[in-house]
Amino acid sequence: MTVVRRAAVEDAEVLGRLLWDFNTEFDTETDDAEVLAGRFARLLGLDGVLAVLAEDTSDLAVGFALVTLRPAIWYDGPVAQLEELYVVPALRSRGVGTRILALCRDLARDLGSPEMHINVDEVDTDTRRFYERHGFATIEEGSEHRMLCYVGPTA
Ligand SMILES: CC(C)(COP(=O)(O)OP(=O)(O)OC[C@H]1O[C@@H](n2cnc3c(N)ncnc32)[C@H](O)[C@@H]1OP(=O)(O)O)[C@@H](O)C(=O)NCCC(=O)NCCS
Repeated sequence: MTVVRRAAVEDAEVLGRLLWDFNTEFDTETDDAEVLAGRFARLLGLDGVLAVLAEDTSDLAVGFALVTLRPAIWYDGPVAQLEELYVVPALRSRGVGTRILALCRDLARDLGSPEMHINVDEVDTDTRRFYERHGFATIEEGSEHRMLCYVGPTA
């Protein structure tokens, strides 16, 4: 049985370790788990940042998500950004990711956010299928072309 709950500042260490596992699994350059944990501790103390943690019966962490909320000009509430979502390899395809995503969406909605954005690499077809099954799209209703996410330095 896996329990999915909103994470607290006290969960920063385990969140840091899971994010390190995520980055390492996908060969993404990463800071050490301790550095990531420190960042989680700082971010989770802020308004507009929330994390979700999935744990098995022995309190072993098996997945997490990080969501940020930022002010939006398009509506009164904030826009939610799903920054990270990860389930450990051994527990994938058992519905844990779906439950983490569902709680993120519920929490964001409770905080007044009507919309969630997610960036995904085009080649990650499994992950794209996962989000598309959950109602996310790269083409906005009424439009005929895909949205793109551009990234560049600030200066
Ligand atoms: C994407 C992810 C969070 C989904 O969690 P999950 O617990 O496996 O998801 P669920 O069991 O609720 O749903 C299963 C679906 O996830 C999708 N999926 C995506 N990546 C997968 C993977 N590496 N292994 C298994 N399923 C995966 C599949 O579409 C699968 O559906 P299918 O039956 O059509 O193949 C999880 O697979 C994961 O951590 N993947 C690696 C990290 C990642 O890509 N994160 C998203 C960053 S934007």
